[in-house]
Amino acid sequence: MSGALDSVDSTCACRRAKVATMAPSEQVLDLLPDSAEVSEGRITVAGMALGEIAERFGTPAYVIDVATFRNRARAMREGLALRWASSEVLFASKSLPALAMYELAAGEGLSVDVAGDGELRLALAAGVDPERIYFHGNAKTCGELELATNSGVGTIIVDNADELERLRHLVPRGSRQDVLVRLLPGVTAPTHPSQETGGPASKFGLPLEQAVALMQEITDSPNLRLRGVHVHIGSQILETGPFAEAVRRMAAVGAHDVYDLGGGLGVRYTPDERAPSIDEYLDALTGAAREVLPPGSKLLIEPGRSLVASAGVTLYRVLSVKRTGRTFVAVDGGMADNLDVALTGQRYEALVDGRARSPGTVTCTVVGRQCESGDKLIEEISLPDPAAGDLLVMLVTGAYSYTMANNYNGAYIPPLIFAEHGNCHEATRRQRFQDILALQHPLGLEASSHRHT
Ligand SMILES: Cc1ncc(COP(=O)(O)O)c(C=O)c1O
Repeated sequence: MSGALDSVDSTCACRRAKVATMAPSEQVLDLLPDSAEVSEGRITVAGMALGEIAERFGTPAYVIDVATFRNRARAMREGLALRWASSEVLFASKSLPALAMYELAAGEGLSVDVAGDGELRLALAAGVDPERIYFHGNAKTCGELELATNSGVGTIIVDNADELERLRHLVPRGSRQDVLVRLLPGVTAPTHPSQETGGPASKFGLPLEQAVALMQEITDSPNLRLRGVHVHIGSQILETGPFAEAVRRMAAVGAHDVYDLGGGLGVRYTPDERAPSIDEYLDALTGAAREVLPPGSKLLIEPGRSLVASAGVTLYRVLSVKRTGRTFVAVDGGMADNLDVALTGQRYEALVDGRARSPGTVTCTVVGRQCESGDKLIEEISLPDPAAGDLLVMLVTGAYSYTMANNYNGAYIPPLIFAEHGNCHEATRRQRFQDILALQHPLGLEASSHRHT
């Protein structure tokens, strides 16, 4: 693997070195996954031509470059270990919840954070050591807490007093469940409001005073063991300052064994965005931790987006190019497979396979096929002579796209294709009509009884 990684890194460095003199469309190439290469305008990922992947698995399809994930997971894990004596990196599995991802994360030495029955069961099914599963959520049900305690989940992150009450009754006598308490640090990070979770108006966690009272209750519970505290101030955060500030606020709730600093590191979706590097992020976290936290404590971080976003691209077939004063490039996917644009207004970039190095000639709006005017994948982009039949490659779609895929207008959830060393693995297959039909129970009315006469 390391040989393969070396060559991946040098390809990547080579691509980056060219950025300064690139034509505008070429700067976008820098957003491709680490193992990507472009030859005569055609894009390969992990040695696999995207055009061939599209032929084999159909479109839309999500393609994940495993090397990118491995590179970033290692940088996070090794970088944190270098800076802090006792540490653990948890993969925030909500960013890409597939069995293959849980396997990859565990294989890279990461623990796993889950936030719901389905994610917990996937992690268990993938063979993740339950002791290394961290269970989150602001409204966990009794069933979920029971599943977690019965499955030996290592740590439950308690969000509120009602949850604590339920948990106290569920943990079997004679055993002790490790818990962290989620703090609301009162740090409002600069990100889209739907992704901001640390400010005073957030539904997540408890203000510090209430958290301290809850911690006392936990300490008094014979079947629970308070290990420490947790914060998570949001997602797609492009500055390090708020992360450091949240760490400083954690010190106000006393000394603990474990400090879980959450996830949230943002990524670059467009050439003009700048995201902190993994090193800059870890420097900020551990710098603040050194100021205020006990040196012997254990630091946890929970990255999701920053590990998988840049590993992913989505393949779409262009179905029409319509000129109505604006030029609409309509593809065979949309907000059913990428809800992010509608939810947060995130700006994305795309390339036309076969003309990936060609400068843009037509300013257009890339739209999907769902029945909403808000179903725009890219509001304004210059593409090289787009035409029906083109393969459009949308970049940096590895995080939260598959996660939030839905069946709007009867869309089928696209497959997740993992590419590594010249091979493709269909990590999840495309949803079929039979999958949807299997959930349906018709009323069984006579055809004539619901005919309007
Ligand atoms: C508790 C918690 N930890 C970690 C994450 C991962 O965040 P990100 O994908 O931005 O790193 C999330 C997602 O918002 C979260 O809710």
